Amino acid sequence: MTQYSKRMVIVHWLTLALLIAAWYFGDSLAEATDESKATLAGYIVHIAVGGTVLLLTLAQLFFRRKDGTPPLLYDKPIYQVVAKNVHYLLYTLLFLLPVSGITIILNSKVGAALLAGDANLLPKEHGFKDVFSHEVHEQLVNVLIVLAVVHILGAIKHQFIMKDGLMSRMSLRKKD
Ligand code: HEM
Ligand code: HEM
Repeated sequence: MTQYSKRMVIVHWLTLALLIAAWYFGDSLAEATDESKATLAGYIVHIAVGGTVLLLTLAQLFFRRKDGTPPLLYDKPIYQVVAKNVHYLLYTLLFLLPVSGITIILNSKVGAALLAGDANLLPKEHGFKDVFSHEVHEQLVNVLIVLAVVHILGAIKHQFIMKDGLMSRMSLRKKD
């Protein structure tokens, strides 16, 4: 095995696209809340995109178990350990981030507003002040960004400095 399976490649890139969308919608939502202008649609879109990230991550972990992963590419042992642990941490965050989002819904007025279909019930400025999971959600986003940057720098190093074809392992093009 020299490459990731097709379905793992598709889920990897789809997760990246949805993660950027969830980040954008989450930020817009936080801004709208600060101006007391958040809408139910804004929440529904963010929840749908973030929830899909959770489903894709669970699918990816299942595919990983079934299809396996290509062996680590030759690198200094320390970088191999870093890469492997960054992957595990990324999976952990891709799971915990949406779960913390669900916890915000359950522990704030958002759940009641969505059930009643009434945007007036949504939290206004400082409305999440006492919701601990909101703070957790916000901080997990920051940790995820830092880890994703480390991960991307690793991919760039392999592609342009080591030139060892690592990127083609996460590509749909068949390696010869
Ligand atoms: C992996 C996917 C997700 C990402 C990248 C993400 C990202 C974000 C970001 C960047 C914010 C703004 C934080 C701030 O500055 O205050 C936010 C807020 C929020 N997210 Fe998520 N989120 C994700 C998944 C979810 C899910 C699945 C739910 C719920 C089921 C959710 C519920 C919320 C709620 C309720 C807020 C508060 C909005 C506000 O402050 O008005 N998120 N999210
Ligand atoms: C431009 C952005 C990205 C690039 C170029 C990229 C590239 C890659 C490459 C080349 C691999 C295969 C590594 C190997 O063969 O050992 C990989 C694996 C992985 N990527 Fe990314 N990636 C990006 C963004 C992301 C993001 C944002 C996440 C998650 C938040 C992510 C999560 C993962 C995970 C968890 C694996 C490990 C797969 C496994 O072995 O189970 N990637 N990535």
